[in-house]
Amino acid sequence: MSDVSRRHFLKLGACVVGGACAADALPSLTHAAEGSGISTLRTTLPYPRIKLASIGQLTTGHEHLSTYPDQASPVVLIKLGRPVVNGVGPDRDIVAYSRRCSHMGGTLSFRPDSATFHCPLHYAMFDAQKGGLLIIGQATDNLPQLELEIDAAGDVFAVGIRGLLYGRQANVLA
Ligand code: FES
Repeated sequence: MSDVSRRHFLKLGACVVGGACAADALPSLTHAAEGSGISTLRTTLPYPRIKLASIGQLTTGHEHLSTYPDQASPVVLIKLGRPVVNGVGPDRDIVAYSRRCSHMGGTLSFRPDSATFHCPLHYAMFDAQKGGLLIIGQATDNLPQLELEIDAAGDVFAVGIRGLLYGRQANVLA
């Protein structure tokens, strides 16, 4: 075995042993939080449940602007008029998305004729019918989509987000 490959082998061995040691330490860390009500395994804060609109307020193809999960995060609720990916409501056609482009946070505009979002900064396009799928542009992520629920009274609530909001390390800030 050459000198270089022996060094590489020893380094790899140290990593494996180190990893095993770290894994051994995990149960004791979890143990330390027992009884404190704190989960050491949770990495995100819970999403709030916020009413965005009533179904009766929504008109096909028109944007209903709001914010979620806090005032600093603009979102848009839309009734598309046909069943779509993750759509809710009797026609499975109501969806909501962040209005901040996933590339560099440009404010998106919605075009009802193609059901797409367009960014004015570098021209990314996202598909509102396909869960915010990136169609074209410099963004590398799809558009974050809100998880929606509708109650018996026809009120539409945001209860979570699929994907990470632009500029954040976590969608819900402490
Ligand atoms: S900020 Fe939207 S494409 Fe760059």
